[in-house]
Amino acid sequence: MSVDATAFKEAMRRFPTGVAVVTSLRDGEPRGVTVSAFASVSLEPPTVLICINREARSYLFISTSKIFCVNVLSATQQHLAERFSGKRRERQFEGVEYTVDRTGAAVLRDSLMHVDCEVAEEHHVGSHSIFIGKVVSLGVEPGSPLGYFGGAYHDFGLGSDAS
Ligand SMILES: Cc1cc2nc3c(=O)[nH]c(=O)nc-3n(C[C@H](O)[C@H](O)[C@H](O)COP(=O)(O)O)c2cc1C
Repeated sequence: MSVDATAFKEAMRRFPTGVAVVTSLRDGEPRGVTVSAFASVSLEPPTVLICINREARSYLFISTSKIFCVNVLSATQQHLAERFSGKRRERQFEGVEYTVDRTGAAVLRDSLMHVDCEVAEEHHVGSHSIFIGKVVSLGVEPGSPLGYFGGAYHDFGLGSDAS
């Protein structure tokens, strides 16, 4: 018995998540993609996972450069979630303020936190790849997170002191 894709999406929309932009860098060109499929995997060593559609442009950036940086967005950064989930081909970072950390992938200004990662493993699962990332650097900032629920962005109204 198989489950219909539309029903699956409808069900998954009922799981409230944060929103992150995963950045990568290939041949000096930055790329980013909006994701909700991000989780902590291990503490020793610090390890995270992301799930990326292999049809997304970002997929080739991450799989070939073997680096990525997860930027968790604050409620004031919905415009970045929209930009990096759009189908913009070029100048994706035009007007976006960012710095870099260890890997060289973009660290978006005012993100609630970033984890800069080297790809340790990639697993193909259906349409997506699970990338396991070894965290090589990180940073945190104060603020309230951007949320996603029911197919829409929300300010969950949660504060954070970044401590
Ligand atoms: C809130 C939200 C969460 C998303 N989460 C993911 C995700 O976890 N993995 C993924 O591959 N795509 C995810 N997407 C879809 C990508 O952001 C979208 O397909 C994007 O256009 C891919 O861009 P690209 O083909 O230019 O790389 C999400 C989109 C939104 C709006």
